[in-house]
Amino acid sequence: MSRRVARTMLTGRISSMRASYSMAEITLDLRGLPVSEAYAEVHAQLPAILEGIDDPIASMATMAALIHQGFGHLWTGFYRVVEPGTILRIGPYQGTLGCLEIPFGKGVCGTAAAEKRTIIVDDVAEFPGHITCDPRSRSEIVVPVFNSLADLIAVLDIDSDRPGAFTGEDQAGLEQAVQWFRGVK
Ligand code: SME
Repeated sequence: MSRRVARTMLTGRISSMRASYSMAEITLDLRGLPVSEAYAEVHAQLPAILEGIDDPIASMATMAALIHQGFGHLWTGFYRVVEPGTILRIGPYQGTLGCLEIPFGKGVCGTAAAEKRTIIVDDVAEFPGHITCDPRSRSEIVVPVFNSLADLIAVLDIDSDRPGAFTGEDQAGLEQAVQWFRGVK
């Protein structure tokens, strides 16, 4: 069976599972694919899973689960802007306990939020002010998330237990994935 046919079948299955509110058994494992193909799967699945959803928290929870399970990361989740320019607070995530609030400008998340740009850290020990939530974390990527008004509403934070786990391909793939929130008010 070709990958395209498999994807079409899976998308159809997701649509029907979504209707029955039972998606537990649908978990993509993308680890065997080249990175660009893995993100192509994510980009293909997200609109099918989130069709008709205009709720940022539901979208964040779903995206975190899809990416976390698909790539086998250590920690995947969102920190939400609760006081613009000041405070990020934990949002939907997968992994061990995350710290609850991060000031803008602190750690990797706070720096990405303050500067409104993606930051890749190959070695967290080398990042001044890195906030350690899980001591197994060795590298991370943080991607800003904007809404339809181009307001910063969150950052997507992904941690790996491997050093140098994230590249420009991850940046491109994740920045495209969070474009979903551009359709959310
Ligand atoms: N590593 C982040 C803190 C959040 S945890 O990794 C979940 C940072 O320095 O911003």
